[in-house]
Amino acid sequence: MNNLVRVAVDGPSGAGKSTLARSLAEKLGYLYVDTGAIYRTIGCYVFRRGLDPKDGEAVAAALPDIRVELAYGEDGLQRMRLNGEDVTEAIRLPEISLYASAVSAHPAVRAFLLDMQRDLARRNSVIMDGRDIGTVVLPDAEVKIFLTASPEARARRRCRELELRGTPEPFEQVLKEIEERDWNDTHRAVAPLRQAEDAVLLDTTALNFEESQAALLRIIRERGGA
Ligand code: DC
Repeated sequence: MNNLVRVAVDGPSGAGKSTLARSLAEKLGYLYVDTGAIYRTIGCYVFRRGLDPKDGEAVAAALPDIRVELAYGEDGLQRMRLNGEDVTEAIRLPEISLYASAVSAHPAVRAFLLDMQRDLARRNSVIMDGRDIGTVVLPDAEVKIFLTASPEARARRRCRELELRGTPEPFEQVLKEIEERDWNDTHRAVAPLRQAEDAVLLDTTALNFEESQAALLRIIRERGGA
């Protein structure tokens, strides 16, 4: 019997999952696992190879050539390696987002990455964020949270982030991409984004970072997680 705690945080893109989960993991001394980064790494490979990310057969055939590794830097931040190359920054390029969303719809891709995600939670207390953590990856997680916000609020936050990064994009375009990804992520046949029945819903549309963080911490504590 071990006393590892698993916190699953699912929700649509831009709901603040990564920023919130990362800061809470640091506070609680848990390992933070950003599973979107793992799908982005596959998306990055497919993009670079010039493959059609929607072509399930082509993507599945490429999987044996892909080695995905997740490691933690000295600063404690998660880094992704693709066939030995550090792609932590490359996977954040806007074009990779839609590739990640498209490749994540293929059952072969999800199966390819499942053990890797479960292994991380076997050895550590984790806060893992993604789309199917509470429903598929860690269905027995002690704490499940479904984090969401309106598409407009998410697009506004994303625009701010892109601006800070020095790569601004028009609001309308960012909103359109968010809506497109929402549609892809909720309508795919395998492991679609949905709230687990035993997950607590947290809508952060009207909350700032501190308020969202406090609400999440309250949920984790109520569920015996910290
Ligand atoms: O969280 P993110 O936006 O970095 O994720 C990129 C894409 O990866 C997202 O559009 C859907 C997919 N994804 C997934 O299907 N399952 C997960 N657990 C995490 C991400």
